[in-house]
Amino acid sequence: MAVTLQQTLIDIDEEQLVFHLHNDQISYILGVETGNVLAHLYFGPRVRGYHGERQYPRIDRGFSGNLPNTTDRSYSKDDLPQEYGGNNTGDYRQPAAIIRAANGARTVDFRYQDCRMEAGKPELKGLPQTYVEDEDEAQTLIVTLRDATLGVTLELAYTIYRDRPVITRSARLINHSEQAVDLEKVASMQMDLPTQPLDAISLPGSYARERQLSRERLHRGVTQFESRRGASSHHMNPFVALADPNTNEFQGNVLGALLIYSGNHQISLERDPIGQTRLTMGINEYNFDWRLAAGDSFQTPEVAMVYSTTGLNGMSQTYHDLLRDRVARSRYKHDLRPILINNWEATYFDFDADKIQSILDAAAPLGIEMFVLDDGWFGHRNDDNSSLGDWFVNRNKLPGGLADISKRTHDKGMRFGLWFEPENISADSELYRAHPDWVLGVPDRGRTLSRNEYVLDFSQPDVVDNIFEQMTAVLDKVPIDYIKWDMNRNLTEVYSPHSDSAHEGETSHRFILGVYDLMERLTKRYPQILFEGCSGGGGRFDAGLMYYMPQSWPSDNNDPIERLKIQYGTSLVYPISAITAHVGTSPDELLGRSTSMKMRGAVAMSGTLGYELDAAQLSDADKQAVKRQVAFYKQHRELVQYGTFYRLESPFESNTVAWMFVSPDQKEALLFTFVILGAVQPEPHITKLAGLDPQQTYVETDTNKMYGGDELMQLGLYTTPVQTSDFTAQVHYFKAKD
Ligand code: GLA
Repeated sequence: MAVTLQQTLIDIDEEQLVFHLHNDQISYILGVETGNVLAHLYFGPRVRGYHGERQYPRIDRGFSGNLPNTTDRSYSKDDLPQEYGGNNTGDYRQPAAIIRAANGARTVDFRYQDCRMEAGKPELKGLPQTYVEDEDEAQTLIVTLRDATLGVTLELAYTIYRDRPVITRSARLINHSEQAVDLEKVASMQMDLPTQPLDAISLPGSYARERQLSRERLHRGVTQFESRRGASSHHMNPFVALADPNTNEFQGNVLGALLIYSGNHQISLERDPIGQTRLTMGINEYNFDWRLAAGDSFQTPEVAMVYSTTGLNGMSQTYHDLLRDRVARSRYKHDLRPILINNWEATYFDFDADKIQSILDAAAPLGIEMFVLDDGWFGHRNDDNSSLGDWFVNRNKLPGGLADISKRTHDKGMRFGLWFEPENISADSELYRAHPDWVLGVPDRGRTLSRNEYVLDFSQPDVVDNIFEQMTAVLDKVPIDYIKWDMNRNLTEVYSPHSDSAHEGETSHRFILGVYDLMERLTKRYPQILFEGCSGGGGRFDAGLMYYMPQSWPSDNNDPIERLKIQYGTSLVYPISAITAHVGTSPDELLGRSTSMKMRGAVAMSGTLGYELDAAQLSDADKQAVKRQVAFYKQHRELVQYGTFYRLESPFESNTVAWMFVSPDQKEALLFTFVILGAVQPEPHITKLAGLDPQQTYVETDTNKMYGGDELMQLGLYTTPVQTSDFTAQVHYFKAKD
């Protein structure tokens, strides 16, 4: 195949069938081995080229079978590092795909057929994904493999960006045979890493304790990180990093893999008997069985892989830029995000127009820019037992309707935002009474309630259309600037009454496709609306959602000490502009812990700031404090939301927590330090800064103190615990001296 693209990012050695994707920072190399098996050769820092001289050791492993019709006992798919392993044909490691043929055989054996290159990046229909704005910024290699017996081809797509250490991968299966086949598992990617010690870094959690960073050395056998909840979940984010054991925030090699998907996911890491590690990532095979008719194709979601030689901060900064610039599509993706106040914890369901007016009256003079009317404005919802599915205003509570609330908010010079939970339904709703069959559930079997809600069958286009129409009826009429899109339960009894037995295994993926369809239609129709994702806090804080919504609510937990961990873990992958953070009350609503306004403010100002309290109830002193926070944040929010973020000291490891933001020109920096517990006779603690220009002199504007960039990074500053207080925060702003 001729290489025709200018300044190609992909070299193809046609003789040896070796493919080398490269930019200034990274190389990814794959090649075709004996028997046309597609082998993984390398992913890491850039190499100039690959001469093909490094041969995988040929050793008869015993009990590792060899290719059919060969006598070479030293060559086995059971140990060869591969790009997409088959099933039931002598590779006993985790399969990338399991396909059931019409005769019941689950045997999969893909061999190389051919390849092609494309400028830019082809679109994946109906799925969230990374994209290019200009064809020249990336190139895509599509390698086609074929299972001749099944009559199914597999297209593996690899995109490399010119200026980012990023490779994206996805897979597409096409059934060229005359018969349907059933897909029991189709991973988005697989890759076998060479024998080496590796730490797996993941983001497990729970409701109100999302994305707690976890790190463990990989041992023999399979380690699996997954969600079976029908959502990416609070419990395990669809992300893993594989790091050299010496990797820390600033040094070491680390490979990140992020699935751009919001449903069930499965990340498996298998350390094989000779120490190699197989990484497999994609839609979870649990509850998945996709009937692929003759002539049809199936496209997997995409994985975005990052390679960093500068530790975890390097990896995170690449993800932050990628997600902000080439996953988020909203017109707000580079805009300063408004400071909002939300009435949820102020009122819960108990509000009326007067109550809202009192919040508006109190919030506007503080400089707050947007009011969000949360749950409880629709149907006859006065608690969480009714009305989901009835997206029309509750006139008992709001006699003037939403238009009145919108006007009251706009009259105060603030933007108006509204809460929806489009995917769920209450049994006590008009929608349920009209369409009881629109709910996920197995006939003659009880349905599991969660928060007293059922889940609408979004695998069915009619159901999605109905919610679309109900929402547009509101949004076409009322001036609305922002939507908080919630999803307050996980899926159970995943069964669509309108599907048939051959297709039931498709329901959980089709549900997510239905959700994406609704999000696509609404975000396209209302480009002026800023959308924020939410799922009982951060139950769907994933890259799939970011394609539609540039920000998400990471947790219902507003306690600043708990938030240190949640925000630190979330920042491993997701950009700060996407991480909303609100100042709540003290004592905290969920935990009951008391903390200062300064502590709560400093944590919330480390993300996209908002307030989750009743502004009308604040003391005068707290009002003044909020006013100062808002003014300070407005002055610095560009730096916070779009600067380069450095994690300095981790709440998972120490009593002192620190992070900072540096402007792209290194002329400004904002440092936040937190000490969790005070101490008697504390050890002196030094925090060293990062990312500054060592040659530059910086002034701390509050104190007029002067420091060299090198001084701040090498000598650092004292952040010693205070003897008398727990939960303290310091904020330092540095500006380069002209
Ligand atoms: C979820 C959200 C909250 C709030 C409630 C309303 O829990 O995370 O912020 O919107 O739903 O029911």
